[in-house]
Amino acid sequence: MPTAPDVRPLRETDRAAWLPLWDGYNAFYGRKGDTALAPEITATTWKRFFDANEPVNALVAELDGEVVGLVHYIFHRSTNRIEPVCYLQDLFTKESVRGRGVARALIETVYVKAREHGTKRVYWQTQDTNATARMLYDKVAKHYGFIVYSHES
Ligand SMILES: CC(C)(COP(=O)(O)OP(=O)(O)OC[C@H]1O[C@@H](n2cnc3c(N)ncnc32)[C@H](O)[C@@H]1OP(=O)(O)O)[C@@H](O)C(=O)NCCC(=O)NCCS
Repeated sequence: MPTAPDVRPLRETDRAAWLPLWDGYNAFYGRKGDTALAPEITATTWKRFFDANEPVNALVAELDGEVVGLVHYIFHRSTNRIEPVCYLQDLFTKESVRGRGVARALIETVYVKAREHGTKRVYWQTQDTNATARMLYDKVAKHYGFIVYSHES
């Protein structure tokens, strides 16, 4: 029987295993080569994961003892509820283990972490063309029809 993924908080000793997944995720969004994420951004994000004063959190999934997936999530204020809400910002699984429930396990663990943090709401965004991701998302969450605008000054 295939092994179930084991999801746990990121540890400082995971850096070598986490980095290729983070690079893979960034490359998926075109942040590679000349347009790669600046190393100081990765360094700062990494530090924030382990800073109790930062709302930035990370989990990894292991299969047979190997780190094969990551999810990063952030708690923030909302004007329409007293408790915080949880934004799931990054999700990535190693190509060779896809379709084995690793991303589903990561998302469902974020739901648990959010409840522990006092909120029921977890939300995220994806590109409408990301059919693979959306196959999963349609099973674990609801799409309310919002679209995203952004502006960089
Ligand atoms: C999207 C992504 C995170 C999914 O990871 P994954 O580990 O393969 O996902 P899972 O195995 O948990 O998928 C679960 C469900 O999605 C479906 N699914 C996922 N990949 C599929 C595929 N290639 N073909 C058919 N169904 C698929 C399965 O039906 C599965 O359903 P089930 O849990 O009911 O069996 C992964 O493909 C990835 O990292 N892609 C590149 C980065 C990316 O798109 N990140 C998300 C950005 S918003």
